[in-house]
Amino acid sequence: MLLNLEKDAEMPLYRQIADQIRTNIGSGTLVPGYRLPTVRELAVTLGVSRLTVQTAYAELQSEGFIESVVGRGTFVAEQLPVQITRKPIAIRQRADMPVVWYSQNLFAAMLKLSQKPGVISFSQAAPGTDAMPGRELSRALQEAAADPAAFAYGTPQGAPELRHEIAALLLDRGIAATPDDIMITSGAQQAVDLGFRAFLEPEDLLAVEEPSYPGMVAIAAGRRQRVVGVPVDNEGLNVERLAEICEVYRPALLYTIPTFHNPTGVSLSPARREQLLDLAEKYDFLIMEDDVYGLLSYDGYSPPALKAADNRQRVVYISSFSKILAPGLRIGVMVAPPAQLEKLLITRRETDLGSPLLPQLGLANYLRRRHLPPHLGRVRTLHRERLDLAVNLVQKYLPDCKMQRPKGGLCLWLELPGGVDEREFYLEAIERGVGISPGQAFMVRPLGGESAVAGHFRLGFSSSSPAELERGIRILGQVLSSYRQRRAYTLARTGTGNTVLV
Ligand SMILES: Cc1ncc(COP(=O)(O)O)c(C=O)c1O
Repeated sequence: MLLNLEKDAEMPLYRQIADQIRTNIGSGTLVPGYRLPTVRELAVTLGVSRLTVQTAYAELQSEGFIESVVGRGTFVAEQLPVQITRKPIAIRQRADMPVVWYSQNLFAAMLKLSQKPGVISFSQAAPGTDAMPGRELSRALQEAAADPAAFAYGTPQGAPELRHEIAALLLDRGIAATPDDIMITSGAQQAVDLGFRAFLEPEDLLAVEEPSYPGMVAIAAGRRQRVVGVPVDNEGLNVERLAEICEVYRPALLYTIPTFHNPTGVSLSPARREQLLDLAEKYDFLIMEDDVYGLLSYDGYSPPALKAADNRQRVVYISSFSKILAPGLRIGVMVAPPAQLEKLLITRRETDLGSPLLPQLGLANYLRRRHLPPHLGRVRTLHRERLDLAVNLVQKYLPDCKMQRPKGGLCLWLELPGGVDEREFYLEAIERGVGISPGQAFMVRPLGGESAVAGHFRLGFSSSSPAELERGIRILGQVLSSYRQRRAYTLARTGTGNTVLV
């Protein structure tokens, strides 16, 4: 259950709590029989006194919205006091939108490239092994492995110990969630997959930023999902354009990366965050917020998660320990309103019965020891230094490329000088032993000349050593100048600039 309190507001806190619970019951988000958190749990989660929560519960009980059963807890009443009907779901217009476009070969090649010996790979946005807390993590895992219970089946929702620690961590993103609101997944990748399966009917339309995360595009393609791309500018997703799209097409779900967006690095402005939540309510769609980079700011400031302001239970939140700790743990996080969590749990039971227990218990130990805050401080410094170096090297070796220094995340989004085809640039860079991600990989439609990603590429700087950055970016500079020389030569001879790729 997610509540959002305004501590400076005139309305007393107990009234805010009671009102929000009542609204959630009215909207069907909290269903009859749902077990509410105990007074103590909710007081701790919200950072208020027990008396405040007790007063709110007493008010709701006297109105007949909730009931207490001695020894069992407090529940949403089976017989609600007034005729509460759920808001009718708007009829979604069958959209004449294409199935998502995606190059299986390109995605597979990028993943392979990141593992290939001898290649300097900038094709992943991931921490290097030097940014992983090997010693503390292995101690925490060994400790978990000492208990044979760590080898038993876990639960689909995930280990309670870990969910408890994650609830505390989420406060750093402005999210007040209880362990019951959380599900552990096998990475954010699985969270996206479960979300699409749980919330999209075959005829539904998915809206996504364009460009967006290729792993999400791959999942959408596997479902033959109909999709609409929403442009991104310096303030993040173009909400005005999304409103126009909603007016015509009524998407059922928006997948978005509002903080340190992959690949552009931009964050959604505060005004647009509010507008986006209003739009979700107006056009009755659900938002999947992918926040895997949310804690990776370079100046110490991350905008609070969209979920933090989600009073109307429209946001399903996704995060992961891959970018801040270790991708090999394969531990992701979902936070969802009860009705949506229930759907996710059903989908989860149909999938893999839950994530492996041992890494979950090891991670719970690691978090309980409070190792994460100093580790985050260290990796932010490390990544900032790498980013500074990468930016300087781009200015030195690729001076004609345009870029914006991101405030967080693990990649640079670069625009090649006019006329350079990023697919050809990508192929020539591989020939020279350097891997990058061409703009095409971030598209949901076939590439056209006017596309937002034409002539762009992503450079993941975080897993390379300073020496690899120096060498790799120098080679990219050489690839670009020889490409341009050849192109100028072809242009002079034939009057066309097209290089022929075989
Ligand atoms: C935006 C985004 N979401 C999800 C993922 C996948 O994360 P995980 O390793 O937790 O599955 C990535 C990885 O690159 C990503 O960039």
